[in-house]
Amino acid sequence: MIRVAIFGFGNVGRGVARALTNNRELIEKKIGKFEVVAIADSKSSIHGDVDLKYAVEYKLRHGRLPSDVKADELMENVEFDLLIDTTPTDVFTGEPGLSYIKQALSMGKDVITSNKGPLVVAFRELFRLAEKNEARIGYEATVGGAMPVVKLIQRELAGNQIFRLRGILNGTTNYILSRMEREKMPYSQILSEAQELGIAEANPEYDVKGYDAGAKLVILANTAFSFDAKFSSVKIVGIEDITPEAFEVAGEKGYTIRLVAEADSRGKLEVSPRLIKMTNPLAIYGTLNALLVETDLAGEVFVIGKGAGDRETASAIVSDMVDIYGRDNGH
Ligand code: HSE
Repeated sequence: MIRVAIFGFGNVGRGVARALTNNRELIEKKIGKFEVVAIADSKSSIHGDVDLKYAVEYKLRHGRLPSDVKADELMENVEFDLLIDTTPTDVFTGEPGLSYIKQALSMGKDVITSNKGPLVVAFRELFRLAEKNEARIGYEATVGGAMPVVKLIQRELAGNQIFRLRGILNGTTNYILSRMEREKMPYSQILSEAQELGIAEANPEYDVKGYDAGAKLVILANTAFSFDAKFSSVKIVGIEDITPEAFEVAGEKGYTIRLVAEADSRGKLEVSPRLIKMTNPLAIYGTLNALLVETDLAGEVFVIGKGAGDRETASAIVSDMVDIYGRDNGH
């Protein structure tokens, strides 16, 4: 029996609870039985043999969970095997997820996280800690939501030399730029509509200033090139200064503008609005994400998919569960 603790019970945490409920049979076929033994948000919790449906409904109705016991206390007092961290991202401190993850790994517990902050702040440190304590870390959900990129690099392209990664890693800005291109609307007007889609960061400056894409690029580059890059290593320019007129000029020559994140094996790490040919596979529309991986053996591999959303992020978290525990079950 795999005992799961979920820390963070916002949209993503609840998405995970729903996925674990709806797809339990499918998941248990791959990894064996699991039970959720604790759920915590920033101020409240529930533990025992948790009824996931009840926990989701309770949180939606009351804005909290039934018990006042805090996450730190649960960490010390509840027996669990896997921490699923869906706490909110802070790319500068990594908290609160960083402390939870460190504590769990130190106790030899496996961790799956959708939170970019801890990996951006302490990527190598966390992997060293995991190795020392024979614990495992899954972080597919930190980049590109449902789009398979982390395990693509780690497994499918294993043994390839990776030269360069180029991607559209932020759905909110891609949506804004797409609409600016097609409807010639100014940036400020579209931002509020983008927020209504529910995929923008709590502070949308994280999206439009390129911070979210920069954080994801750090995680991908550290995965692909074994760097120990930090957020401060990325050269970042956001989309605030892009005007609808810029699209007109670009369009006349067959180009569009997208917020491109690029990393290469020589250490380049950059997020900036770029002119790209309309025919370039990265010229995608709406909230989609995409990643182009350039390798020696496989050549170019291109992935496209939904980069945000509770179901999509839950998809990545569940895939990490199967990846970590499926092998234990010889799947
Ligand atoms: N705010 C992010 C985006 C959500 O727009 O892509 C996923 O990290």
